Amino acid sequence: MTSDHLTRRGLLRGSAALAAATPVLAPSAGAAPSTRPPAKEGAPMSPVELTVNGREVHLQLDPRTSLLDALREHLHLTGTKKGCDHGQCGACTVIVEGRRINSCLTLAVMHDGDRVTTIEGLGTAEALHPMQRAFITHDGYQCGYCTPGQICSAVAVLDEIAAGIPSHASADLNKIALSDAELRERMSGNICRCAAYPNIIAAMNDVAKGEKVA
Ligand code: FES
Ligand code: FES
Repeated sequence: MTSDHLTRRGLLRGSAALAAATPVLAPSAGAAPSTRPPAKEGAPMSPVELTVNGREVHLQLDPRTSLLDALREHLHLTGTKKGCDHGQCGACTVIVEGRRINSCLTLAVMHDGDRVTTIEGLGTAEALHPMQRAFITHDGYQCGYCTPGQICSAVAVLDEIAAGIPSHASADLNKIALSDAELRERMSGNICRCAAYPNIIAAMNDVAKGEKVA
């Protein structure tokens, strides 16, 4: 083997020599102080503007705040309920920009500028929304905990059907038939521990068919 060939032993010897010759840099006594700002405690607040039930609101929120907590804890709209807080029960359903969503699964900052409708915005005690009236007429609840989410969902479901948006239960994608199977499938994300399901479907059928409910 010729001398200009690299050998493993020669390479290791060279690396060791290089390491020994490299000075270790220590901070000098006169080094300029760090310009990095000191770490703040907690997350910085984010401004969020929403139109909730027709009213403009301006909030300063921890960016980790869910839309549900913004509504309940910051705006005191406690009609929207927290059931599971991770997308399984539908108790937190609200309507955002015309579409129903689980408000526990989304951050308030993601909805800056959006229009939000909660159960408080659908109707009032004096002027109930037709879906609220129909739930009363058909006993669409027992304990009532799931009811605000059920009603928001039911209102949005009828809008989805009217807009021709199909579901897994739609036999004809071009013509959505109003059937109990269709309504049940679309409402399947809203759990009712009191099992008021048949009554909820009856209420939705009334509203869909324009029945006058007392
Ligand atoms: Fe949001 Fe249960 S609280 S889905
Ligand atoms: Fe009690 Fe639905 S009415 S959980």
